Amino acid sequence: MRRRSTGAVAVAACLALASCSVTRGDGAAPSGPGRPVPSITTPTSGGGASTTAAPSRPSDEPPTSGDPLPDDVPDSTFPGLGDPRIDVSSEAVTVRAAPDDPEISGRARLTLRSTVDEPLTSFTLGLRGPQATSITVDGTAARSAAADGELTITPGSPIPPDTDVEVEVVYAGLPDQTEFPGWGMPVGWQADDEGGWFAMSEPDGTATWAPVNDHPSDKASWTVALDVPRGVTGVSNGRLEGGGPTRTGDGRDRWTWVEDEPMASYLVLAAVGAYDLVSSEHGDVQVVRAFPADMSKGDRAAFDPIEDILDYYASQFGPYPDEDAGAIVVPTDLGLALESQTRPLFGTDGVTGDSAPALAHELAHQWFGDAVTPETWTDVWLNEGFATYADWMWTEHDGGPTVDDTARRAARSGPADEAAVRDPESAGSFSAAVYEGGAVALHALRQTVGDEVFLRILRTWVSTNGGASANTGDLVAIASEESGRDLTGFFDEWLDQTPQPDLPR
Ligand code: TRP
Ligand code: ZN
Repeated sequence: MRRRSTGAVAVAACLALASCSVTRGDGAAPSGPGRPVPSITTPTSGGGASTTAAPSRPSDEPPTSGDPLPDDVPDSTFPGLGDPRIDVSSEAVTVRAAPDDPEISGRARLTLRSTVDEPLTSFTLGLRGPQATSITVDGTAARSAAADGELTITPGSPIPPDTDVEVEVVYAGLPDQTEFPGWGMPVGWQADDEGGWFAMSEPDGTATWAPVNDHPSDKASWTVALDVPRGVTGVSNGRLEGGGPTRTGDGRDRWTWVEDEPMASYLVLAAVGAYDLVSSEHGDVQVVRAFPADMSKGDRAAFDPIEDILDYYASQFGPYPDEDAGAIVVPTDLGLALESQTRPLFGTDGVTGDSAPALAHELAHQWFGDAVTPETWTDVWLNEGFATYADWMWTEHDGGPTVDDTARRAARSGPADEAAVRDPESAGSFSAAVYEGGAVALHALRQTVGDEVFLRILRTWVSTNGGASANTGDLVAIASEESGRDLTGFFDEWLDQTPQPDLPR
């Protein structure tokens, strides 16, 4: 599911200096001055049938007509990801995995169509590590070449415009994780501490275990089936089909999870191991908490507030955007938490006493990031600034410091002094500029337009763009419309310039 960019805001070039308030290990150094802009996948030309090398673009604007469409989505923060020439509407993947076996095998079926006017002769999918052993398009064998973590697929006949095709990829091998440049933690399919496996995939880890159009501009509905030895549990996003595993012909257990709401690839969850699934109903929402089987009752209680937090956010931002909710705790220290759709991911270190400090932050992402997803990584402040701000609101609601106090304290630390909120350097390192700087910008907006209009802007943002990807230009348009004034200059000052202005009283 894809939507073309309607607006882009210029970015300022500076350097980031940052520390974030979300949970992360002490060893995970925040970005510092002079650190290069991280580049997750830097495609080089060549490599078998691989078609083109991506020209590097100075902005995240789609190419003007007449240019050949590059095979990577224009994204100055993480160039080299995704293929803008295709639009995947659904993906169903079955992955066979076992505790203590680092290799996986899988079969993925993608329904996709071309986004270009001419017949499409080839396209790419991310796949890093495992090798494709068979690829078909509408049942006919396709040629393929692997290079730089991407498969270039050439169907037997070109894909006509406006036509769905079914792509099937059979693959096997060793997932090839990357390391997130800013924070140092492994990204992708990885081992936990108890013989199981899980995927922590922001920004580009899903390609380590499934072929995927790996960019947040292309959301899809997903079915993830985890095929594991009997007695092992598989966990993913959304609803567990049949309420339990099915037995396969060879005596294994297959856990099939369905997430119908469009989902960005970095939000896809997979975990296999010894988990207890604790299910309950909350209104129309089914809540499934996945805990390591040996996790104590006391530690599990850290996730008791999920329903209260979701209810509070629904009262502020509009209805919870899904029919499924919950959380998963994986048995290892993660140094962070991740807002995987419907079921955010925490490590053992995400639980301190009877609280999970990042819980309200990750649940806010279900509206901001998961329902409404940034069209490019340069707009990741639309995730992190909003989730940080929502967390401040929950904290005030829960009897803690007021949002105004928290925002003024955050502003005093000068989170966007050295690099602007929308600087690709800030975005690519998930620095304090995007978290606190983005949240301070939202507080400035609230001070400028008033509480009522501010909340109307947030609600309209979600109701207009839920299920899709959107950009800062879309937010500026909604904020200007709802407030009845042109806020272009306001957002430019707060997001694209350094330092940020003084917070209005
Ligand atoms: N998006 C996460 C959060 O703020 C943080 C995160 C998860 C992250 N995985 C990452 C940041 C990888 C950088 C790299 O809740
Ligand atoms: Zn976040």
